[in-house]
Amino acid sequence: MKLNDEQIKFVEELLGKMTLEEKVGQLNQESTSIVGGFDVPFEELIEMVTDGRISQEEFGKIMASAERDYHEDEIRAGMVSSFLDNDPRKINELQKIAVEETRLGIPLLIGFDVIHGYRSVYPIAIAEAGSFDDELMEKTARMAAKESRAYGICWNFAPMLDVARDSRWGRVSEGPGEDPYLASKFARAKIKGLQNGNESGECYVAACTKHFVAYSACEAGRDYNTTSMSLSQLHNVYLPPFKAAMEEGACSAMASFNDLNGVPCTVNSYTLRDILKGEYDCKGFVVSDANGIKECVVHGIAEDETDAGVKALNAGLDMDMGTHIYYNYMVQAVKDGKVSMETLDDAVRRILSVKVWLGLFDNPYVDEAVIAAYEAGIPESHKELCLRAAEESVVLLQNNDDILPLNKDTKFTLVGELADRADEVVGAWSLGWDVADCVCVKAGLEAAGAKFDYYPVCGPEDEINEKELKAAIDSENNIVIAVVGEYKSMSGEASSKADITIPGQQRKMLQELKAAGKTVIAVLMNGRPLALGWEKENIPAIIEGWHLGIQMGTAIAEVIFGDVNPSGKISSTFSSMNGQEPMYYNHPNTGRPGSKSKFTSKYLDAPVDPCFPFGFGLSYTTFEYNDLKLDETDDEIKATFTLKNTGKCAGTEVAQLYMQDVCASLVRPVKELKNYERISLDAGESRQVTMSLSKSDMGFYDNQGKYVFEKGLFRIYVGGNSRDTLMEEIRLD
Ligand code: NOJ
Repeated sequence: MKLNDEQIKFVEELLGKMTLEEKVGQLNQESTSIVGGFDVPFEELIEMVTDGRISQEEFGKIMASAERDYHEDEIRAGMVSSFLDNDPRKINELQKIAVEETRLGIPLLIGFDVIHGYRSVYPIAIAEAGSFDDELMEKTARMAAKESRAYGICWNFAPMLDVARDSRWGRVSEGPGEDPYLASKFARAKIKGLQNGNESGECYVAACTKHFVAYSACEAGRDYNTTSMSLSQLHNVYLPPFKAAMEEGACSAMASFNDLNGVPCTVNSYTLRDILKGEYDCKGFVVSDANGIKECVVHGIAEDETDAGVKALNAGLDMDMGTHIYYNYMVQAVKDGKVSMETLDDAVRRILSVKVWLGLFDNPYVDEAVIAAYEAGIPESHKELCLRAAEESVVLLQNNDDILPLNKDTKFTLVGELADRADEVVGAWSLGWDVADCVCVKAGLEAAGAKFDYYPVCGPEDEINEKELKAAIDSENNIVIAVVGEYKSMSGEASSKADITIPGQQRKMLQELKAAGKTVIAVLMNGRPLALGWEKENIPAIIEGWHLGIQMGTAIAEVIFGDVNPSGKISSTFSSMNGQEPMYYNHPNTGRPGSKSKFTSKYLDAPVDPCFPFGFGLSYTTFEYNDLKLDETDDEIKATFTLKNTGKCAGTEVAQLYMQDVCASLVRPVKELKNYERISLDAGESRQVTMSLSKSDMGFYDNQGKYVFEKGLFRIYVGGNSRDTLMEEIRLD
C-alpha cells in the first residue's frame, strides 16, 4: 500500500480536523448485533444449535428473521470506523449515514471473512497451496477481490498465513500448510491478487494477513492455546510469510488470540511495534481478532477493560474488533495520559490511509446492478477458474497396480454420504456461496457419464446403514469408490481434534468392503491431513480431494477417468497415527535420528516416518530425476538436473529444491524447501532443468532474531517430494 503525496496530505488534513472522540471512533469496528426476535437469550440459542436441540436449518430460519441492531446511532455520531458485514444493500445504507450524516463524512471500511472465494468458492488454502502454482493463487485471489468488492466488502480477512505443523489444529485447513517458504510464496501471490488491482485498474481490496503470530503453534494442537518458542523458531518458521506479505505491501494484519512466550499477541509490542511496524515497515494497521482485547483480562495480563485497551493501543493494536473497549475507555485514557495523542494519531493515520488507498472517499457505494448480476449467477470465467484450481489441487496419494484412471465403461459402486453433499464441498469459511453452484462427487460422476450404483452407507457422523452396505457388497460391481472424510465443520476455527483418523464408522465401512473382496478407491474430503496408516496399507488407490470448492465433483470425476492427470502435492505431512503429531518434514536433526536401533528418537508403537511426506503426490505418469550438478556464482547456487517423463502419458511435475545447512551455530532442519517449479512434459520427454537458490536465502535467524549466513557445508536436494531426492554437497567459503 503506497499513497501519493496528495493522498498523504489529505490524510494529514483530515486528522487535523478530528476531535479526540472522532479519532477514537476510527479505532472501532462494529458488527451487526442480534438483539431478539426469538424467545430465548442469544447465547442459549447458540448452545441449542451446538448441542443439537435445534438443527442448523432451524437456526438459519431463526437468524434470518431475527431483529438486528446495525449501530446506526453510533455511526451517525462518528464513532464507527469499520463494519463487519456482507449484506450489500445494508452496506450502502450504512455508508450513506457515515458519508452524509457525520461531521467529517469518513466512509466505513467494510470487512469480512473471504478466505477462499466468496460467491465462487475455490479450494481451501491447504489444498490450493499444494498446486504449487503461484500464478493460480494470485488469480483466485483477484477473483475473490472482484466478488468481494461487488458486494461492498473492501477489506478481506485473508490471507491466513499460519504455518501449521500439527494437524490436530482445525485451522490447518485455512492456511498454506507446514512450510515457511511455500507459505511465503502463497502470501506474495495472495497479496498481489487481492491488492494489485489498484495498479492495474481492476477491482481490489485491502488484505488482512492473519493471525499475527504463531497462533498455529498452540500447544497440543488445541485452538487458542498458549504458544512458546525461541526467537529463532519464531523468525525462521512463523514470521516469514508475514514478512513476505508486508514486502508486497499488505494493508493490515490481525493480531492472533494466543499468548506468545507469555504475552498475548493483542498486547505484544515486540511483534506489533518492533517486528511488524518496525522491521517490516508495515504502513497499514493492525486489528484485533474478535474480542481479543477483552480476552487479555481473561489471560490475566490486564486488570480490567481499560487496562486491556491501554496495553493494546500502546502495543500497536490499532483497531478493536468486537469489544467496544476502545470506544468506551480510550477517550478518557488519552485524557488521563495513559495513551499519548501521538500513539492515537498514529493508529488513526494508518486506518485512514487504508480507506484513502481503497478510494472509499471517492466512491464508497456498491453498484446494485452488479450485485444483481452476481445474484443471478456467477460468471462462467469464475467457474472455470474454480475448476482449474480444483484440478491442480487434487493429490493422488496412492495408485497401486495403476488402478486409476478408470475406463468410463467400468461400472462401479459409489458409497459414502459425503459423495452426495453439495453443501460440503466448499469447506470451512465459505460464506457467500449458493449450493446450486456446487458440484458434489456424485453429480460430477453423473455429468461425466459414469455408470454406477450409489449407496450412501454412512457419513462422518452416522452409523453404518447395514442394508446399504450389504447392497454394495452383494453388487456385481467389483470396484467401489468410497467418498469419506470430514464435514467442513470438522476443521476451521474451534475445531481441533485429538483423533485425526477418518471419523466415525467410515473406516469400518472401508474395512468391510475390503473384507468382501472389493477393490476400493478412496476419495477423501477433509480439511486437515488425516492419519492414514491403515488406509495406506489396505486401500489400493487414494485420492486426496480436500474441500475443493464449487467444482469439486467435476475435478474428481476428471481425475478418476484420466481426463486430468493429477499434479497436486501435499502441503503438509500426513502422519500414520494420531500420536505422531505434530509431524513435519523440516524438523531439526536430533543427535539420535530415529532408526531401528533402540536408543534413537522414535516411538515403540509407531513408525518414525510419515505416512505421506510433505510435497508428495503421484501422477498417472512417472518422473525420473538424474544428473544433479551444482554451480556456484557470486550470488547463488544453480542446481541443474535432468527431469524425464518415463511413463505413458503427458504430465506435470512439481520439481522441488531443498537445502540443508549441515553444520551451523544452531541446529538446522534436516531439509528446507527453497524453490519449486511446475514442469509439464510429454510421455518420454526429458528436459534439463536449472533451479537457483540465492545465497541470501541460505542463512537463518539466530536467537536474537538476527539473520545470519554461516559459511560451510550445504547439501542441496532435488526431487518430486521432500523424501525422495537426489543430493549433492557444496562448500561455501
Ligand atoms: C475470528 C477468527 O479467528 C478470524 O480468523 C476471523 O477473521 C474473525 N473472527 C472475524 O470473523
